[in-house]
Amino acid sequence: MFYSDDILDQVCSANDIVDVIGQDVPLKRSGSSYVGLCPFHNEKTPSFSVSRQKQMYYCFGCHRGGNVITYIEEYNNMGFLEAVKYLADRAGIRLPEQEVSEEEKRARNERAQLLEVNRLAGTYYYYLLRTPAGKNGLDYLTKRGLSEETMKAFALGYAPKTPSDGLYRYLKSKGISDDLLRRSGLMNLDEKRAVMYDKFWNRVMFPILDTSNRIIGFGGRVMGDAKPKYLNSPETRLFDKSRNLYALNLARKTREDYLVLCEGYMDVISMHQAGFTNTVASLGTALTPGHCALLSRYTKNVVLSYDSDQAGVSAAMRAIPMLRRAGITPKILRLDPYKDPDELISSAGRDEMAARLKKAQNALLFEIEITRRDYDLNDPDSKTRFYEQAAERIAALETEMERQNYIDAVCREYMVDRKQFQELVTRRLVAGPAPRGRGELPAGRARQTEDPATGMEYDPAALYGYDDSGYYEDEETGEMFQAPPSASRKNRSATIKEQGEDTSRKLLLHYICRYPGIFQTVKQYVQPQDFGGGLTGRTAEIIYDQMEKTGKVEESWVLSHFTEPQDQSQVAGIFHTLDQASSGKEREKAVRETLIKVFTAADTGNVSDFNQVIQRRKQEAELRSLQILL
Ligand code: CTP
Ligand code: MN
Repeated sequence: MFYSDDILDQVCSANDIVDVIGQDVPLKRSGSSYVGLCPFHNEKTPSFSVSRQKQMYYCFGCHRGGNVITYIEEYNNMGFLEAVKYLADRAGIRLPEQEVSEEEKRARNERAQLLEVNRLAGTYYYYLLRTPAGKNGLDYLTKRGLSEETMKAFALGYAPKTPSDGLYRYLKSKGISDDLLRRSGLMNLDEKRAVMYDKFWNRVMFPILDTSNRIIGFGGRVMGDAKPKYLNSPETRLFDKSRNLYALNLARKTREDYLVLCEGYMDVISMHQAGFTNTVASLGTALTPGHCALLSRYTKNVVLSYDSDQAGVSAAMRAIPMLRRAGITPKILRLDPYKDPDELISSAGRDEMAARLKKAQNALLFEIEITRRDYDLNDPDSKTRFYEQAAERIAALETEMERQNYIDAVCREYMVDRKQFQELVTRRLVAGPAPRGRGELPAGRARQTEDPATGMEYDPAALYGYDDSGYYEDEETGEMFQAPPSASRKNRSATIKEQGEDTSRKLLLHYICRYPGIFQTVKQYVQPQDFGGGLTGRTAEIIYDQMEKTGKVEESWVLSHFTEPQDQSQVAGIFHTLDQASSGKEREKAVRETLIKVFTAADTGNVSDFNQVIQRRKQEAELRSLQILL
């Protein structure tokens, strides 16, 4: 369902643009309009103008402009409907009810209840930090250099040692049911005695907020050397670790054109305290494509600031290609000799951090440097292979200028003759990217195994809960483990495979637009998040949203969500794909096969959940005999 123009007019007139923008940006009157520093780009003299008369804004610096709805969409990174809802709430206008299914109603209700429990728990921890019972916590945080202001900004709290059911009793006193408490992830169950007690005790508490500033989970740190160091809320209906980033609610307001990504809660907090408020972290889990997609909604530039130890370096090596796939240009911040950003700031100070951020190195040189460790430069063969792989990476760069700069840098760093190295790069360029198909994997190492019962290929490691990153988390303790090395081999053939996946995804979107009748069937099997991060995923979100609301897709509406000409032309491509099927039957078959491809390529979420794995196999079998009528 769509809101009528009447409703939209009503929402806009109830939200004066000068008042709305004035909440975020100090505005000064100048003639008939108001001016201020543009919230969308970094500037020192105001070129952002807001007109009360026209109810429009425009920036003469970055040329962004629009009405009050556009502003909320841009400033809060919200979709159109979300922005309308936000403004309606702000003005106390009730929007006409959208039709929702019973299932969706239940899910919303559950989320709302869990949010309320978290809010109460957050208040409880926050309050206790400032009571005598919280003295240990407060001392600990103070000793780690956090100011009162910082603790407040991050709403830090404390879960005391005793009583072991303090939070439980507090929440009961607020009328929360045992059933809800069980699902909140904040309680442990003592099965023998059939009682619940608090999951977090004797820890300083870090609430985790989503971008609407609602508490979706908690991390808790012990104040000594006990294990596990951090304990995190388990995933709930609210808390999806692979799609949320710590402190993104704050960092998204930055006026810098890049975000800093680190590993830990304390790193983020120290960075913010030192003024680098554009810092976020993944939540006690390795970076996922979901995180990358989320990041790419806010910026195309990310500085990776992972720990300098071996684990941090490997994590960075995995994060780099994942970020690139989401259209982000990663850079690397060097921390050595310090362990992590927090340590660097407390030992060397904020100016040193600022200097290092400025010098952050393109991830390419970092990758070359790290792979260099796998080669023995005293062995001529090995040395040649090292130069070849470096040349291959450089050849993959887009512009000649970039290539030349990196050739310079590599020659300087590894003392190789420029002319010879240039030749290697040129040869690579002419040959095109080296094929890295699955066939290249040495026999016996391939991870895909065929299931004899269904004939389906599956990934044995996936069944045991490893993700792409090679890390997995113990659900009980929240501790992170590294998967055996065989689990991260997948990446080798990832690029080519992903290109194919992306093509299928675009094709499926094309079919939805062209044959809206198939949408109801398609959505039973694949959801927008199954279209991967990046552009295709975002387009899927918009198309699904529009299908749900109007039953058809308007090209211009979808395009209007993208501002970059490059993105626009890619998205336009989805609408103008040619398919080669000649007959209706053939086309129906093509649609079904595309749907199967997208379905099987989808990130299956919690693959350690056996029931879910089985369920997906059933669905796939169903798909194979599905009748599609166009
Ligand atoms: N982490 C976790 N569970 C653990 C250990 C770590 O969830 N058992 C996550 C936390 O989000 C933590 C991040 O991994 O912030 C990085 O871990 P680590 O480098 O060990 O901790 P620091 O962030 O450096 O924490 P501190 O400075 O408090 O020691
Ligand atoms: Mn640390």
